[in-house]
Amino acid sequence: MPSLKILLYPDTRLRKKSAPVGKVDDGIHLLLDDMAETMRNAEGIGLSAPQVGKNIRVIIVCDAEDEEKPEEKNLPESASETPVIEMINPVIKNSSGGEYGTEGCLSIPGFSAGVKRKESVEVEWLNRNGDLERTEKQGLTARIIQHEIDHLDGILFVDRLSRLKREMMLKDMDRTFLRD
Ligand code: CO
Repeated sequence: MPSLKILLYPDTRLRKKSAPVGKVDDGIHLLLDDMAETMRNAEGIGLSAPQVGKNIRVIIVCDAEDEEKPEEKNLPESASETPVIEMINPVIKNSSGGEYGTEGCLSIPGFSAGVKRKESVEVEWLNRNGDLERTEKQGLTARIIQHEIDHLDGILFVDRLSRLKREMMLKDMDRTFLRD
């Protein structure tokens, strides 16, 4: 499985709205496998297809919530052992609560900020077999799902900051990424 190139801010492809997947075929399976490899190599906890140059509604999410289950005897030792959920055409059906948490993004390396997200989301998606799944996720897993679905709509976490904070960070980002 090859590692894919992750697009970096301010690549305009990160700002495009992604199209739904029509058919879950071999091409999608290959993409999912390559995305998992890419995410692991970059030590990320989530990744969206548009970040690797495919403008389709596919995301992968480390199920961090699973990691915290106390009944689990063999706790994962690293992110590479955390279960990954593959989501095709994910849609948030319900959500509740709200909390701040620090977020970063593989497309904006070196930057992070506190972002307000829903605490709990009920999400529906197609798995790699093309079957519809629906579940409720909380905490970090819910946060990753919201962050990655935002990517499918061309939204970056900096867009979710207060105006003042956003303007400061964008200025900083432009200094870093537009240097040459
Ligand atoms: Co991101």
